[in-house]
Order: sequence, then structure tokens, then C-alpha cells
Amino acid sequence: MSFFLFKSILAIFFLFAAIIAAITMLSLMGKAKRKVSVQILRKMHKSSGFVFAGLLLVISYFCLKYWAMVGDQISTRAVLHGVLSLTLIIILILKLSIVQYYKQFLRLVPVMGMIVFVLSFVVFSTSAGFFFLRTLGARTESSDISETAQPPPQGSAEKGAALFKSKCFSCHFTDREESKQGPGLKNILKKEKLPFSKRPSSIENIKKQLKTPFLTMPSFVSLSEQEIADLIAHLKTL
Ligand code: HEC
Repeated sequence: MSFFLFKSILAIFFLFAAIIAAITMLSLMGKAKRKVSVQILRKMHKSSGFVFAGLLLVISYFCLKYWAMVGDQISTRAVLHGVLSLTLIIILILKLSIVQYYKQFLRLVPVMGMIVFVLSFVVFSTSAGFFFLRTLGARTESSDISETAQPPPQGSAEKGAALFKSKCFSCHFTDREESKQGPGLKNILKKEKLPFSKRPSSIENIKKQLKTPFLTMPSFVSLSEQEIADLIAHLKTL
């Protein structure tokens, strides 16, 4: 199972826990006639809250690991996702400390709960939601770029190998097809389809992956045409 699939599946449970926590909170605060007793609702709110916070910790750990690996080449979407997640964590910590220690602010708690709930949805959409949309959408994507008539610029496989080592190796194996952070790139240009997006395995589609990556790979817009040609010459030897 790929790293992102695993994280996205955890995120579904995370969202589910958020929904239960929100519904129980709303029933506790707002409903005049409840079908379920206050005790049970409290318990449900508390336990879904624990599951929510636990999953948030695990998912945040994965995110931090990914950020450390990607460094500065992070996409705008990932930055937005990170900022929103951090806001969510801070509001959640504030809410929990008010409930535990600063009861004079208790009237703020329901509003904070709602904000946490809304942020959970937005944070989910900017990562796992995007992941599912992209992977499901990929099956129906029709605008594949195929090989253009122009021959690619001459590249040096040797220079490409050095470049690969510094920019790509942390996420891709070259001697096997198993995944590291991204798919293994052995035989990448000898196969019919690219390993992740399932687009036709062509030089144009690899260039496209470097400039506007399919999913979560950082973008390499700063590479020159020559560097890309070197990288591709190296990929041909795999
Ligand atoms: C931070 C990790 C990371 C780095 C660094 C990275 N990649 Fe990737 N790569 C991925 C991931 C994850 C995927 C899966 C598809 C996606 O997320 O876009 C991928 C997919 C690919 C694919 C397959 C695309 C497809 O359509 O199936 C190619 C080719 C590729 N990377 C080449 C490179 C090259 C060349 C470099 C270096 C310039 C590089 N990658 C650097 C993570 C990375």
C-alpha cells in the first residue's frame, strides 16, 4: 500500500470521528428532546474526540516526515494544508485546556468545536480528498500527451545520474520497481505505462511529471531543458 493511500484511509476515519463528535456535541447543546441520554452522548463525544486527536497525531507525524523529505519544493496546496492543520491543532489544544483548566471560558467551547469540525473538512479536502479525486479521476483522464515529433535534446546519462542522486534518489529506487516515497523507476521508459499515473510511458509525460506532478511529488520547475534531457538520458538506462 502506498504511503498516501494509507494516510488518506486514516484521514477518512479522522473525518468520521469528527462528524460523530460534532453530531454528539450538537445534540448535547441544542436538542430539547433527546432520544439518547446525556451520559451516552457525552461518552460518545469524548471517545470520538480521543479517536480524532489520536488520528490527528499519527497523520501529523506522516505529514512532518513528508515535509522534512521534500524541503522547500512544496506545492501551494501542501502549504495551505499545513497551515490549516496547524490552526486546527492549536484550536483543539485551546479547547481541551479550557474544558480541563479554564472553565470560565466554557461558553467559547462549542464555537471552537464547530471551528475544529469545519477545519477538519477543509484539511481533509486539501489532502486526502485531493488524493482520491486525482487517483479516481486518472482512470478517466483523456488528455494524455503523447510523444511529439521533435527529437529530445541530447542528454548525458552520466550528468543525469548525478542529478538524480541529488534530487530524486531520496524518493525513488532505480534498481527495482518497488516504491520508496514514489514508485521505483527501474525500466521506466521500457514499459508501456508510467507506474503511478498510468499515462503512456513517454519522454513528454516524464517532463510533464517534473513540471506539474501528478499528485504529491514536488515540482521541479527550476530544472533547465538540458538538465531534464540529462535526467531522461539517465532514466533510459534504468
Ligand atoms: C519527495 C519525494 C519525491 C522526489 C524528491 C521525487 N519524486 Fe518522483 N514521485 C514521487 C511520488 C510520491 C510519485 C507518485 C506520483 C506523484 O505523486 O506525482 C512520483 C512519481 C514519479 C514518476 C512516475 C510518474 C507517473 O506518472 O507514474 C516519475 C517518472 C518520477 N517520479 C520521477 C522523478 C524524478 C526524475 C525526480 C527527480 C528530479 C523525482 N521523481 C523526485 C515522489 C518524489
